[in-house]
Amino acid sequence: MENKILVTGGAGYIGSHTVVELQNAGYEVIIIDNLSNSNVEVIDGIEKITGKRPLFFELDCNDMEGLKSMFESNTGIKGIIHFAASKAVGESIQKPLLYYRNNIVSLLNLLDLMPQYGAEGIVFSSSCTVYGQPDILPVDENAPIKPALSPYGNTKQIDEEIIRDTVYSGVPYKSIILRYFNPIGAHPSLEIGELPNGVPQNLIPFLTQTAMGIRTELSVYGNDYDTPDGSCIRDYINVVDLAKAHVVSIDRLLKGKTKKEVEIFNLGTGRGLSVLELINIFEKATGVKVPYKIVDRREGDIEKVWALPDYANNELGWTAQKSIEDSLASSWNWQMKLREKGIM
Ligand code: NAD
Ligand code: WQD
Repeated sequence: MENKILVTGGAGYIGSHTVVELQNAGYEVIIIDNLSNSNVEVIDGIEKITGKRPLFFELDCNDMEGLKSMFESNTGIKGIIHFAASKAVGESIQKPLLYYRNNIVSLLNLLDLMPQYGAEGIVFSSSCTVYGQPDILPVDENAPIKPALSPYGNTKQIDEEIIRDTVYSGVPYKSIILRYFNPIGAHPSLEIGELPNGVPQNLIPFLTQTAMGIRTELSVYGNDYDTPDGSCIRDYINVVDLAKAHVVSIDRLLKGKTKKEVEIFNLGTGRGLSVLELINIFEKATGVKVPYKIVDRREGDIEKVWALPDYANNELGWTAQKSIEDSLASSWNWQMKLREKGIM
């Protein structure tokens, strides 16, 4: 029998790519998503790619009664991958309670219900944001957690602690916490990708919208940082590579291969790229110009961060495969697909 996996936030950007990889690996997937930052047509996209329609429930993870009846009617869920969360850093500063409620209560509900329904493991979406500005680069999983710069970042730190405290209290399940660096790109089929809401705050959707002429100019936030060209450095990881790491992680949990009750892995490429380098690579990979100007630094930005992915590489047996050129080309192709469909 196929193992049943519950994917919360499975209609979202990283969730949808992960559902594809789970189904390709033979898992039976149940998605719950309240569609607060996604679209139900994503489920059609997943079906087109995999030939299989995942079970979908429009449900809020904060709705304990709704969750219970979902577990009652879908027995045998072995593992959970918990993506569902609000993720806009700026919005979290304006609406902290929304973020604390959505990102914390949803996790509490799932952790509470897992033993009752026999779920053996949970994979949690965390972020490199927990490292703040690391003292040592590349940053590994043992680096100290720095005070969060936003309520959003704080929810990830608190959620990690909640998972640790709960799992080590002796519950009958284990957890893998994945700290993502900067996910980019779209599925090569272009059936699914990132759907930014309003004016994008993240670099890649803003860049592709500028290349498309939707925005007049990309603002590069600062060129006076202590980096070779003065712009900030990040570790950009392809979303399909990222998705595959979730399949490996759930497999590891369900096959009892974890070495600790709670394991933490960095998911990055190990390569840091500056904003200006990225624009340059995008232009070369796509042949499309990106008008940009240098503006002041953005408040709260980290100067430079990239991963030491050795632990994930060696222990999970997972390594990021896609080149940055491929990733950026897929972001651009996805942008063109959105235009073709009249979405953007
Ligand atoms: P996303 O917004 O595309 O996906 C999240 C999905 O969860 C959306 O479909 C949304 O509708 C759903 N959702 C939100 N609250 C919900 C709730 N209470 N109940 C049910 N569904 C709910 O975001 P994403 O980029 O795919 O991120 C997925 C996870 O990864 C999030 O936890 C995010 O914090 C984390 N993460 C993202 C990044 C990034 O840069 N994209 C980086 C690090 C970590
Ligand atoms: C990348 C780089 C900007 C936009 C945020 C969250 C983090 C994580 C991912 C979830 C930075 C520069 C950006 C623009 C620019 N999310 N930039 N012009 O800041 O690394 O991380 O998203 O956990 O928590 O903080 O990502 O894409 O916003 O920025 O110059 O219009 O691009 O300064 O150096 P960031 P980003």
